Amino acid sequence: MPKPSCVSQNNPESQELMQYLAQQLMMKGIIATAQPVQTSCLNRCQQGPVVLIEPGHTMYVNLTKEKIDRIIDEHLIGGKVVSEYLIDDSVWGEPIPPASMAR
Ligand code: FES
Repeated sequence: MPKPSCVSQNNPESQELMQYLAQQLMMKGIIATAQPVQTSCLNRCQQGPVVLIEPGHTMYVNLTKEKIDRIIDEHLIGGKVVSEYLIDDSVWGEPIPPASMAR
């Protein structure tokens, strides 16, 4: 049975994390470039809350506000994957480094 995770109306903590993510993107001035989009379940509930960053197909798991801060600063702004927060390779494919996505 999956644990309740990610963003759910029945889970105020998950809603707070989604709000925090959007607020931080706005505060750092990248909300127009990086858009938080709530999806349906990504079938990784045991590692939730999760966030999937595209392009790159990079999934970060067990999100907290502290992890969101580093993901924004290091991945979205800095272009470097925060490897210690990645989902395990055994249940997800290899991420594509953000730097290789640059045109
Ligand atoms: S609800 Fe997020 S992975 Fe299932």
